[in-house]
Amino acid sequence: MYYDGSRTEPTLRAWGLCKSFGTGEMRTEALRDVGIELYPGQFSLLMGPSGSGKSTLLAVLSGLLHPDSGRVLAHDQDLWAMTERQREEFRLRHCGFIFQGYNLFPALTARQQLEMVLRWGKGYSASEARRRADQMLSTLGLAKKGDLRPMQLSGGEKQRVAIGRALIKDPTFLFADEPTAALDWKHGEQVVELLRAAAHDAGATILVVAHDARMVPYADRVFHLDDGVLAEGVERPMAMFADSRDVAAFGAI
Ligand SMILES: Nc1ncnc2c1ncn2[C@@H]1O[C@H](COP(=O)(O)OP(=O)(O)OP(=O)(O)O)[C@@H](O)[C@H]1O
Ligand SMILES: [Mg+2]
Repeated sequence: MYYDGSRTEPTLRAWGLCKSFGTGEMRTEALRDVGIELYPGQFSLLMGPSGSGKSTLLAVLSGLLHPDSGRVLAHDQDLWAMTERQREEFRLRHCGFIFQGYNLFPALTARQQLEMVLRWGKGYSASEARRRADQMLSTLGLAKKGDLRPMQLSGGEKQRVAIGRALIKDPTFLFADEPTAALDWKHGEQVVELLRAAAHDAGATILVVAHDARMVPYADRVFHLDDGVLAEGVERPMAMFADSRDVAAFGAI
């Protein structure tokens, strides 16, 4: 089934988001009056220079960081009007995350990182969790790495485990902060395909922070954040390619 976001209601709506850090001379306005509407079945990219506020926006939209002002409605529920416990419950139930620093549990093997989500988040039996975890590891090219702990994995492998952990939950919302930064393009492209499938086939609402312009042709929508100001770049993705040969090289058309 292909989800056509244009015919549905947004699953995530935010407006008037402001967030600053520090005071006086040291004050940084990370988000300036940001508004965004995201739809189910859409794979959206969030691009912008380092320090422009991308991770901050992801954290605010996913209920991890309290904005100074503004509102976030996820499934029409006001995320920042919930109690901390309700927000945690919401994240556990509906959200998948891929963080910039992977956030894997050092003591758990790759397989256990995935099994944990299914056992505690979804209530799967041990054998079913193991079956699904192994299936996901295999999809990510990690079939032989299931018994290894994070310190035994390469950066790219850790990143793929983190991606598997987010995807295996079959989340309503998936937030990813540079999920392919540690991957070569072959593995990066695989991951982008998986994220796209989670949106188009499973109807997830996906927002991915990315620097790599090669991801642009895969995205349904592209947003740009510049010094805390958000704009949707409908035309800009193509402008990022210097000429048509570059577009062809990326298989965009
Ligand atoms: N906890 C914090 N305390 C102080 N300043 C912060 C904090 N978190 C973020 N900032 C500042 O807010 C701005 C936006 O940071 P953010 O991490 O959102 O940028 P980013 O776009 O994700 O950058 P990158 O591409 O390098 O990851 C930066 O100037 C950063 O220094
Ligand atoms: Mg960041």
